[in-house]
Amino acid sequence: MRVPQTIAIDGPSAAGKSTLGALLANALGYLYFDTGVMYRALALAALRAGIDPDDEPALTELAHRLAIDVIPPTVADGRQYTVLIDGEDVTWAIREPEVERIVSRAARFPAVRREMVRQQQIIGRRGRVVMVGRDIGTVVMPDADLKIYLQASLAERARRRLADLRRRNIELPLEQIAAALAERDALDAHVSQPAADAIVLVNDGLSPDEEVAWVLRQFVHGEQAL
Ligand code: DC
Repeated sequence: MRVPQTIAIDGPSAAGKSTLGALLANALGYLYFDTGVMYRALALAALRAGIDPDDEPALTELAHRLAIDVIPPTVADGRQYTVLIDGEDVTWAIREPEVERIVSRAARFPAVRREMVRQQQIIGRRGRVVMVGRDIGTVVMPDADLKIYLQASLAERARRRLADLRRRNIELPLEQIAAALAERDALDAHVSQPAADAIVLVNDGLSPDEEVAWVLRQFVHGEQAL
């Protein structure tokens, strides 16, 4: 039996990818790397620089120039990690609704994605990593030992996002959250597809603890381990 060294978790927004990813990484003592933060950091930097999220050359240049770092948490305020852009802590700023509104647009350009993927592959090659995103199992780590594609209904994902936002004292109507998620699903659809060899897991009604226990039992300690 071989414990998977590289684990890819993909799926749509608010499907619970980062919750499962962080729990799995913690259980295995692996690095947890959420690639969405890189696209979010790029979108935030574009907003600040007044770059249009449809301006492909300017975004590509920005993607090459920005130093995005993800390091262990530097403040005990509920964060899973600290995100730095050129040394500045932007961990919470990249979660703001203005960033959410444009991130899928900024992330859609192939030249932008190539640079992000290049940086992500450097981290993936070191192994002992749980990497979370949209294209990890298909593009970033096509040879990942274990690929999970998480899915949940739009209603369930909207409820989870509402709870996330409330924890940060942001109040938005559920219908507005669901509409924004549906819009992002449509924009992300071209990159967010399950790899042919991914395990598709629909997690409506499953708690994070149940989910991680199931994955560990099935694919790490259990009968279907590699
Ligand atoms: O997972 P998230 O919501 O933090 O992702 C933010 C955005 O970045 C999302 O709209 C899709 C995009 N993204 C991507 O295109 N590829 C990835 N590997 C990760 C995120």
